[in-house]
Amino acid sequence: MSAAPAPPVPDLAPFKARRERLMARMLAAGGGIAVVPTAPERARNRDTHFPYRFDSYFHYLTGFGEPEAAVVLVAGETPRSILFCREKDEEREIWDGFRYGPEAARELFGFDEAWTIGDLDLRLPQMLADQPVLWCGFGYDRDWDDRITRALNAVRANARAGTVPPHSLRDVRAELDEMRLIKDASELATMRRAAAISAAAHCRAMAATRPGRHEYEIEAELLHAFRSAGSQAPAYPSIVASGPNACVLHYVGNERRMADGDLLLIDAGCELDGYASDITRTFPVGGRFNGPQRDVYEIVLAAQHAAREAVKPGAHWNEPHEAAVKVIAQGLIDLKLLRGSLEHVLEAGEYRRFYMHRTGHWLGRDVHDAGEYKLQGEWRPLEAGMVLTVEPGCYIRPAEGVPEAFWNFGVRIEDDAVVTATGCEFITDGAPRTVDAIEALMREAADAAQ
Ligand code: GLY
Ligand code: MN
Ligand code: MN
Repeated sequence: MSAAPAPPVPDLAPFKARRERLMARMLAAGGGIAVVPTAPERARNRDTHFPYRFDSYFHYLTGFGEPEAAVVLVAGETPRSILFCREKDEEREIWDGFRYGPEAARELFGFDEAWTIGDLDLRLPQMLADQPVLWCGFGYDRDWDDRITRALNAVRANARAGTVPPHSLRDVRAELDEMRLIKDASELATMRRAAAISAAAHCRAMAATRPGRHEYEIEAELLHAFRSAGSQAPAYPSIVASGPNACVLHYVGNERRMADGDLLLIDAGCELDGYASDITRTFPVGGRFNGPQRDVYEIVLAAQHAAREAVKPGAHWNEPHEAAVKVIAQGLIDLKLLRGSLEHVLEAGEYRRFYMHRTGHWLGRDVHDAGEYKLQGEWRPLEAGMVLTVEPGCYIRPAEGVPEAFWNFGVRIEDDAVVTATGCEFITDGAPRTVDAIEALMREAADAAQ
């Protein structure tokens, strides 16, 4: 019997397969034991906590969403996965909600063993004894570093009884990063759903925007769309940046009252079942781009198009960025915002005055997801199953030599791409990107509101 209703259990097959793959990788690299804890709960103030979010690595391996948990994986001829979690506590469940407890968690989440988290300090030294390698994430969390250190020292203290501590420590996150970089079918299915929810949220936000409204009102429309479609949270703080605020790359104040003639840049995406989406759209608050806004918008759109064309298996990571930079640099020369030859503007990096960030990042459980961008010093080739963003932009602050008509707006267009065997699939195209499509959506929304 339980004092609170249980949350739904996810399909366990992908999580089990990932644990097995990690243990196979560990075995190939000398065997040993891995310890992967989940994230701690964090106090917001006094007795109130920030909304809980599990650790991405832990959840990738377990699908288990409760705090105060860790998974231990033992590589070997008979690999074993062992969960440590909160004990069942019907009194606490009346206050804080359901908890599985080890017995139900073992059975429902497919572990070989499960124990209470309170047992970990006692059991870990026994588990570490005679293991050649300890795979864990040192240097990320001081409490866990201390806990692991204590367990290692407990094994060392027993050396005269013939037990041998692990002689080598390896970063389990490095293995997991490589695994996480290539998404499996269940991850891609979730990411497509997250992307569709976010694209619909951007459409809703565009339709709701008009002069006189505040940025936070549009943020509320995004949150409504995310939550009412079942997403648990925004994947990162939503950027709703009108006029000059769009030139602040990480603007999250979202307080300004918007005026006719402003551009509004929205960078927002939901998190669904642990997976992020990440979309940026830029559009006119009054429904029509003015001349300079349209000129810059078309340059960024053309840059995005060039970058999108460069996303395919075998292309290296930086090719989309190089393609986007070239188009933006030429566009800014044509608009006389930059002077000199294309070669000079590229070589001297002068375009960085207006385009100072990179064209994308890996996307997955984290909005800036796991995985190296270079291998042995070279940009890594794109492979099927990788997911990345394509997000060129252009930001124009008041400056000498820049005509006033261009001051105080920023444009970014960001979409999420899955690399496929033959090219790529853009999963966020449900939100309009062309000038015509954006203006049509806003016109229809304004007509409907009359
Ligand atoms: N929203 C964060 C980013 O675009 O990188
Ligand atoms: Mn992004
Ligand atoms: Mn973004």
